[in-house]
Amino acid sequence: MATKVLLLATIVLLLTILFLGAESQTFDHFFFVQQWPPTTCQQQQKPCFQPPPATFKIHGLWPQKGPNSVVYCNKNFDRTQISSLENQLDVVWPDVVTGNNTGFWEHEWNKHGSCSESQFNQTLYFQTAINMMNKVNLLKALGKGGITSDERTKSSQTMQKVLLAQFGNQPFLRCKKVGQQFWLLEIVMCFKDDGVTMINCQPSKVSCPPNFIF
Ligand SMILES: *[C@@H]1O[C@H](CO)[C@@H](O)[C@H](O)[C@H]1NC(C)=O
Ligand SMILES: *[C@@H]1O[C@H](CO)[C@@H](O)[C@H](O)[C@H]1NC(C)=O
Repeated sequence: MATKVLLLATIVLLLTILFLGAESQTFDHFFFVQQWPPTTCQQQQKPCFQPPPATFKIHGLWPQKGPNSVVYCNKNFDRTQISSLENQLDVVWPDVVTGNNTGFWEHEWNKHGSCSESQFNQTLYFQTAINMMNKVNLLKALGKGGITSDERTKSSQTMQKVLLAQFGNQPFLRCKKVGQQFWLLEIVMCFKDDGVTMINCQPSKVSCPPNFIF
């Protein structure tokens, strides 16, 4: 009898460990993060290798579980799997700080992308980010709403409204504090775990103050 109970308990324990192990790999949506290079390049420890382009570039595509990024699931970046995409990635996903684009992709895959590998192999992951970039033209959307990057004060609420109107889904904005002022650093759009369907981002504690410079 005691042996049976022990056996049962062991099985339950093993199943729990298996379940939790699998569970820790999963994610429920993506953050598609675009950065504004002129802000990225402000107050870098090392100056950017060239003047930053005044257009949005991909920072990353981050698998999220609830409010948190799932990170460092695997370190198996394999450049050969994205060789057919490199020309496009050089344009939409450059490393604006060092110019080492491949190094940036490797970092982003190892830290973030690999956590979606159960559904997105490396080729598909990077292709998905390119597809999102084609869908989310932020400069164009902001321009349609009368917002241009003139380095003047912008209202967080207005910018969010404009993006909501253009894309039909709520973004969230991230800022960087330089001296006493906040500058727009990143705009995040959220996608379902299918990598295709845009959804509302949940308000995040890491966000911009009511006013910032863009
Ligand atoms: C770019 O980054 C990769 C990966 O970290 C590294 O192997 C390579 O040496 C770097 N290239 C340059 C030119 O620094
Ligand atoms: C990656 O996934 C795509 C789509 O499912 C598939 O066509 C392709 O063969 C996969 N590539 C590798 C290297 O497994």
